[in-house]
Amino acid sequence: MTRIPIILDTDLGIDDAVAIAAALHAPELDLRLITTVAGNVSIDKTTRNALQLMDFWNASVPVARGAATPLVRPLRDAASVHGESGMAGYSFEQTRRTVLNKPAVEAMHECLNASAEPVTLVAIGPLTNIALLLTQYPECKSKISRIVLMGGSAGRGNFTPYAEFNMGVDPEAAARVFESGLQIQMCGLDVTNNAVLTPEYLAALPTHGRSGKMLHGIFSHYRSGSMTTGLRMHDLCAIAALVRPALFEWHSCFVAVETQGRWTSGATVVDIDNKFGQPANAQVALDIDIAGFRDWASQVLALAP
Ligand code: BDR
Ligand code: CA
Repeated sequence: MTRIPIILDTDLGIDDAVAIAAALHAPELDLRLITTVAGNVSIDKTTRNALQLMDFWNASVPVARGAATPLVRPLRDAASVHGESGMAGYSFEQTRRTVLNKPAVEAMHECLNASAEPVTLVAIGPLTNIALLLTQYPECKSKISRIVLMGGSAGRGNFTPYAEFNMGVDPEAAARVFESGLQIQMCGLDVTNNAVLTPEYLAALPTHGRSGKMLHGIFSHYRSGSMTTGLRMHDLCAIAALVRPALFEWHSCFVAVETQGRWTSGATVVDIDNKFGQPANAQVALDIDIAGFRDWASQVLALAP
């Protein structure tokens, strides 16, 4: 099987950890680089979390540290959802791994240049690193196959009434990415809110080996849903979109990111009916096969040792 080469950009909180479990173990994917960005928690913590996970799964994927703050705004984190460390609830061993000795943007640029075929960027945090990459190395667009991201919403937000967290934290970066001309697949909050793992599945996780125990531990500190009502796996949807696109209903349309709005900055304006008459710049997921998502999620997570 030809595997899809990917670079994963993450603000490693709890649902990011699940997406990484899938990205590392899905047989369809070739995870070549992890880059970290500030978002759910600080850049020091997201980077440490990435190194800890690479240790946990004994994986050799390099990790590069990215932006500590959004392009122009101060960071507003989501420690209230993911806990102070971003990955509380499991005692990871102290990691002796280190990050690459180059910043995320340089590592992405080198990884793209070194690849014989175009690479897919998977973004599951604020888009700061990717915006910086496209600004500093515009020529690298030809090496990017597409960007698959979790972020935005065709409905309401969770950061503000109309902004989803990843877009709301760094609207200027998100706008740059959506205006880049690259192919974008967007899994927004209105859809990922339905990507819920059931209480029954969650309760059985401790019997699913050490990965199951670890995920159960960190899930008990996750506040996007609850262990008794089910937990939302926002970022895992970006991986599902890559390897199981048929689980989603896709709509090609124009998406703008609001950067000016007094009450709406970070909102994604998803022009489903083409009211603005603009050319489409994204494929937007508008619906998800929830049962199919759960089946796939349980299969891929069972591959993590
Ligand atoms: C997104 O925000 C973060 O808290 C999650 O990790 C996910 O990427 C959901 O809005
Ligand atoms: Ca995330």
